[in-house]
Amino acid sequence: MADATPLYDTYARAPLRFERGEGVWLIAEDGTRYLDFAAGVAVNSLGHAHPHLVSALKEQADKVWHLSNLYEVPGQESLSRRLTEATFADKVFFTNSGAEALECAIKTARRYHFAKGQPEKFHIITFEGAFHGRTLATIAAGGQEKYLEGFGPKAPGFYQVPFGDMGALKTAISEETAAILIEPIQGEGGIRTVPNEFLQELRALCDEYGLLLVLDEVQSGVGRTGKLFAHEWSGISPDIMAVAKGIGGGFPLGACLATAEAASGMVTGTHGSTYGGNPLAMAVGNAVLDVILADGFLQHVRDVSLVFRQGLASLADRFPDVIEEIRGEGLMLGIKAKVPSADLLKAIRAERLLAVPAGENVIRLLPPLVTSAEEAREGLARLERAAEQLTVERRQASA
Ligand SMILES: Cc1ncc(COP(=O)(O)O)c(C=O)c1O
Repeated sequence: MADATPLYDTYARAPLRFERGEGVWLIAEDGTRYLDFAAGVAVNSLGHAHPHLVSALKEQADKVWHLSNLYEVPGQESLSRRLTEATFADKVFFTNSGAEALECAIKTARRYHFAKGQPEKFHIITFEGAFHGRTLATIAAGGQEKYLEGFGPKAPGFYQVPFGDMGALKTAISEETAAILIEPIQGEGGIRTVPNEFLQELRALCDEYGLLLVLDEVQSGVGRTGKLFAHEWSGISPDIMAVAKGIGGGFPLGACLATAEAASGMVTGTHGSTYGGNPLAMAVGNAVLDVILADGFLQHVRDVSLVFRQGLASLADRFPDVIEEIRGEGLMLGIKAKVPSADLLKAIRAERLLAVPAGENVIRLLPPLVTSAEEAREGLARLERAAEQLTVERRQASA
């Protein structure tokens, strides 16, 4: 088999090979420049090769790379302090990925009830269309058959209700329920925003029944929606929250945040990670926060979001055969396509613009948070050319 690759065949990769990145641009081996509104699926929050991140990583690389959690790690102390000062949380556990942050969140919720003498309370209610990662527990939490199939029995203790269905949710709560887990905006699910009122009702329901509210802000967090975390728009705060992607700006880093009460069961020995909180990751995470927490940065995200929203609304008006609906908040935007979303993705890629597929025939625009208004307009112009091209093709096909 001449063309067999030693890599697992788990990914359907586009035939694109990038050599380097500069801000919002990715440069292919042949020198072609692509406007990167995929940002590593909401990971490169500060774009590529951000000078502050590069120097933080290099500086730490000269000192010490890895220390293990047998010792105190100063970078963990500073980053956790900054995260707790900026959020609802009192406690932080560092991970290397989103799925691991969710694993920690799930364990924290279960352990809370266990420590309170109620070990039977380990069930977690989630929502259809959710995506929480690819470990055995997180595919059970996500509940999507396509990710569960063939991997043995689904991990027990996860129950799913239809998205936005408060009645079904109330019915699903039992003596065994420990927590409700939800993404404030479903990313993979198709940029489906949970209304603020629904989050507020969830908070009230959790308080009423003694459940923990767990938010998955792996994709929606760290400035993506124009607030540090998406749930802030609703005025509520969770008990536990999983974070990853943007917090590392491209370095593998995740975190599980919790109130002191919610984390009270996670005593010495209950959880661990060899690499979690590694000094290199901490240096980059701290550098990401230097930028995102700086005065005016989140306002910049909101301002650029407006440029996108206005531009996208106008494209939706002008190309009704191609665009059905615009979704999302801040710089977590979705275009629900009228044509197959794969065709739209292909057409925009031909215009050297990168985006990400999602459920419900949506393509996601997740530009770096440092995208300027001018770069946003450049992206919109490329989208416009792609929509024009698709409109012409459709007319020709139906003529
Ligand atoms: C909302 C959400 N949760 C969890 C994950 C899993 O993160 P990771 O791939 O880093 O394990 C993702 C990844 O796309 C995500 O979007």
